[in-house]
Amino acid sequence: MITTLPGGTRLAWEESGSGPALLLVHGWPHDRTLWHAQLNGLATHARCIAPDLRGFGESEAVGPFTIEQYADDLAALLDELAISEAFVCGLSMGGYVAFAMWRRHRARVRGLVLTGTRAAADTPEQRAGRQRLVEFVQRSGVSALAAQQMERMVGATTLESRETLGVALRDLMAAAPAEGVIGGQHAMMARADSTATLATIDVPTLVIAGAEDTIIPADEQHALADAIPGARFVELAGAGHVSPFERPSAFNLAVGEFLEAVHGHG
Ligand code: MLT
Repeated sequence: MITTLPGGTRLAWEESGSGPALLLVHGWPHDRTLWHAQLNGLATHARCIAPDLRGFGESEAVGPFTIEQYADDLAALLDELAISEAFVCGLSMGGYVAFAMWRRHRARVRGLVLTGTRAAADTPEQRAGRQRLVEFVQRSGVSALAAQQMERMVGATTLESRETLGVALRDLMAAAPAEGVIGGQHAMMARADSTATLATIDVPTLVIAGAEDTIIPADEQHALADAIPGARFVELAGAGHVSPFERPSAFNLAVGEFLEAVHGHG
């Protein structure tokens, strides 16, 4: 489906299932198809809604590309769908967007599922690394980026024993529009530090980390969960940064149990 938001931007999304709304927010440089296994596997627990953030998938590649704008787009999408509140599940950059939704649209956030994400803003070194990534995309294109990123996104187990998954992720990333890919890096470079936000979160929260995540180590994600009052933490063996994609059944089980416990649905 494509919805034109009040500001005029066209946003693509798809949904499945029924129950409490579960907004699935992809990371960089992904799109909504990253959540294919959740749209299938969580449909008995929730009304799953997977949008393409602006600049990714089939959504319009038009700025401003900021974490706040992504969050505002999702709140506007919820308005369009007449959904008053949703569980917000964010992967990595999608987690940064979830923190922004909590700050800007708190009443819309029924609960949080955070995976492969962190609260801290970029260090100067990380910003410089992002600038180099932007230049790499400008010089070599998105396909080259996708091949390079695939190796760091998935865990060692996926690289060794789930080759087709790695290839599928690479192809998914290779399809991303360059404007959105570069815009996403600029958005993350400028993002706010969410550390002080964590103590303010008073909705049910689940943090799921891949044990083999080399981008945001599981220990750091455990500390993230510890900083959010009452948050639960689950570590998935044999998964890297994109655990919903690498270990979908285990990921869905954790989310399904969480929704069941806090919402009593399903
Ligand atoms: C992502 O997976 O969304 C990105 O790797 C996050 C980041 O670069 O900070």
